[in-house]
Amino acid sequence: MKTYLVTGGAGFIGSNFIHYMFEKYDNDIRIINVDALTYAGNLENLKGVDTRDNYTFVKADITDKDAIEKIFAENDIDYVVHFAAESHVDRSIKNPEVFVSTNVYGTAVMLNSAMKAWSLEDGTFREGKKFLHVSTDEVYGSLSEPGTYFYETTPYSPHSPYSASKASSDMLVKAYMDTYKFPANITNCSNNYGPYQFPEKLIPLVINNALNGKKLPVYGDGKNVRDWLYVRDHAKAIDMVINKGRLFETYNVGGHNEKQNIEIVTIIIDTLLEMLDDNDPRKANISRDLITYVEDRKGHDRRYAIAPDKIKSEIGWEPETMFAEGIKLTIKWYFEHEDWMKNVTSGDYQKYYEDMYAGK
Ligand code: NAD
Ligand code: DAU
Repeated sequence: MKTYLVTGGAGFIGSNFIHYMFEKYDNDIRIINVDALTYAGNLENLKGVDTRDNYTFVKADITDKDAIEKIFAENDIDYVVHFAAESHVDRSIKNPEVFVSTNVYGTAVMLNSAMKAWSLEDGTFREGKKFLHVSTDEVYGSLSEPGTYFYETTPYSPHSPYSASKASSDMLVKAYMDTYKFPANITNCSNNYGPYQFPEKLIPLVINNALNGKKLPVYGDGKNVRDWLYVRDHAKAIDMVINKGRLFETYNVGGHNEKQNIEIVTIIIDTLLEMLDDNDPRKANISRDLITYVEDRKGHDRRYAIAPDKIKSEIGWEPETMFAEGIKLTIKWYFEHEDWMKNVTSGDYQKYYEDMYAGK
């Protein structure tokens, strides 16, 4: 039985990954979820798996070397799946330091702890071990021309403090692979959407605001392009890279689904109107009049688009969920989890929203 150490498993993608893995492998795997439970971590995301005998939650910060080394000392970890990070670009613009601490130093602690646990006396590593570093397409910078794409060979050119910290963490993983032949893979994925996403990100924020008849803030001219991938497809890609990815390789993961932000917002409005009952009181407040163009994000990258050719040809992964289907599944999930949304938007979220959108 393989033991997975998942970091950041109480966040959006990490929790979707854990659900996916237990649905697929049931009792044939063991997962230890290490999460500091920052504002983005929520144990409610793990309802249903948290009672399993083959699941363990450990509240720990990845920058806490002693706590992380203890987990490796007490468990024979086969795979590390490293999601834990500060993940929101807007927050990184306001407060970069924690991004450096968690994303760069935290990754160094994870790498060192795994290296220590997996090393053999001759400088090689125990058979079958792997560290999968989950990263982002934002490390490649920004594209302008339609028809151009990010490949694994595209030079790094991060612009935001968030993407700079993720690029730094990728470089550390690459350095460990080059220097020590440390067994790892890196995945660089495009924008995810789906259940359990915290409503600071565009899609859940727009769903939540529209349902509450609140303005829908669109940065700049609304024509920035992102390449959206349904989160379950990302979870599947990670599982496949762990099992089939060639060691030391990077794989780009993307949705073949480029959309301007304004398109996303209008699709959400139209889909909500289609899915809500006519007698639902929330329906009357939803229209395109809610769209409000606000001050642009500083240094806002214009366009991201991933070429997922390598992961398709080498591993056989490709995106399966069409956006029209994925957005309905996502909206349906938020309809069915009103309490989840109420819980995450109470308290600190209100303050975050007021500060972030003040004057916008
Ligand atoms: P998220 O913000 O929803 O979750 C991050 C999780 O990490 C939270 O549970 C949080 O509590 C935990 N965490 C934060 N700091 C920690 C620390 N110091 N120690 C331990 N745990 C800590 O993020 P997400 O959107 O699920 O992203 C997960 C990973 O995937 C990140 O590495 C991100 O860079 C990457 N990624 C995200 C996307 C996307 O569209 N969301 C796309 C590509 C790659
Ligand atoms: O590309 C992968 C990245 O996608 C991940 O690495 C990040 O962790 C993840 O947060 C996401 O980054 P983005 O900045 O692209 O996601 P966000 O949802 O914040 O914004 C998507 C686009 O929508 C972006 O162009 C900014 C815009 N936007 C966002 C918000 C929150 C708005 O126009 N209005 C908003 O209120």
